[in-house]
Amino acid sequence: MPTALLLENIHPFAAQSLREHGFDVRTMKGALGEQELIDALEGVDLLGIRSKTNVTAKVIDARPTLSAIGCFCIGTNQVDLTYAGDHGIAVFNAPYSNTRSVVELVIGDIICLLRRIPAHTHHMRHGLWDKSAQGSHEVRGKTLGIVGYGNIGSQLSVVAEALGMSVVFYDIEEKLAMGNARRMASLNDLLSVSDAVSIHVDGRPENIGFFGEDQFARMKQNAIFINLSRGFVADLDALGRHLNSGHLSGAAVDVFPSEPKKSGDPFTTALAQADNTILTPHIGGSTLEAQESIGHFVSQRLEDYWFRGSTMLSVNLPQITLGPCKSAARITHLHANLPGVLADVNRVLGARDINVTAQSLGTQDELGYVVTDVSEQPDAATLQQLRSFKGAIRVHVIA
Ligand code: NAI
Repeated sequence: MPTALLLENIHPFAAQSLREHGFDVRTMKGALGEQELIDALEGVDLLGIRSKTNVTAKVIDARPTLSAIGCFCIGTNQVDLTYAGDHGIAVFNAPYSNTRSVVELVIGDIICLLRRIPAHTHHMRHGLWDKSAQGSHEVRGKTLGIVGYGNIGSQLSVVAEALGMSVVFYDIEEKLAMGNARRMASLNDLLSVSDAVSIHVDGRPENIGFFGEDQFARMKQNAIFINLSRGFVADLDALGRHLNSGHLSGAAVDVFPSEPKKSGDPFTTALAQADNTILTPHIGGSTLEAQESIGHFVSQRLEDYWFRGSTMLSVNLPQITLGPCKSAARITHLHANLPGVLADVNRVLGARDINVTAQSLGTQDELGYVVTDVSEQPDAATLQQLRSFKGAIRVHVIA
């Protein structure tokens, strides 16, 4: 019976689904240190983690039979991805499962900031009844400028339009405009027309400090600023100056240049003093629904890999999407991306009169992956020959 170890309180759906697929599943609440992890991984085929378990080269060396790692989260920095790939371990994550959660928080932020809810709450807490419409607006008819029109930006576009907002966006890549959203030729064009600016760019190094004094200065008088992307993207000192001067009327910030390592740690930011701000501790994607969705998504990727050899959405192996095997067996062959491996696989199978019924090849950087459906079960000698190729990393048979 294949074995899975799930750490860090992964949503119970994952264990349930893996059990239903025939895995012996062990779950643990917390993360494990390096040696504890090596010990716990004895005989384990699939490992599930979240962000706090580091899978290092030492762990991979110690447990060469581990097949796949599911990161039940968005990030994969905690795994040595290249080393895992070079040792035949597929790594999966859940890049889209919390998109909707982020979008809903942005919408909530926009409505609350345009109604000056943080300022009103502050006054009420301090015993002041300030019943006034001053500075309060509906979102309907306002222009939302979305910077970065990827998974989150484009879904935000749809929901914001449904609320009656007019949407403009700017992206460095060509993107399909959703609904009536309009693409802006430049960031400056977007800033000059937007009542709310929301940043949804990715974490590429070029985006460090990409929204600074010049960009804030170009925003409309009384506009609001929202960043739920990455902490290093926006200059918060510049933002503070534009809030304090009265140029901007509010801001929502969920991500910070330096964030505490764990829940409960102290945290300070100068923005806490600014009027009409919503400050949240990087919880844009943190909902129970997102956790459940991550549990579904990653366990499915692991099952597809185990039972079909499908590497769809793997973060470190060449991606091949495969249906169920309709032949006698499926041979997966992961190897260094060298010329001639596909021909060599077919030569070995042909010499043994094994008919190839379907075949797919994918390559990515240093790795190649060939999946071959065959008319009969390959014997041990055939597999030994396939494993003996120069650069062969892992050869596996799915019956
Ligand atoms: P994505 O990769 O689908 O989209 C990013 C988009 O930004 C791409 O279309 C890209 O072309 C564009 N882009 C990159 N640099 C740009 C620039 N300088 N100017 C204009 N466009 C630029 O990413 P996704 O999934 O939409 O996530 C967006 C951000 O949200 C990421 O930084 C991610 O880490 C963050 N995030 C934050 C969460 C939270 O809890 N606050 C939860 C989930 C994601």
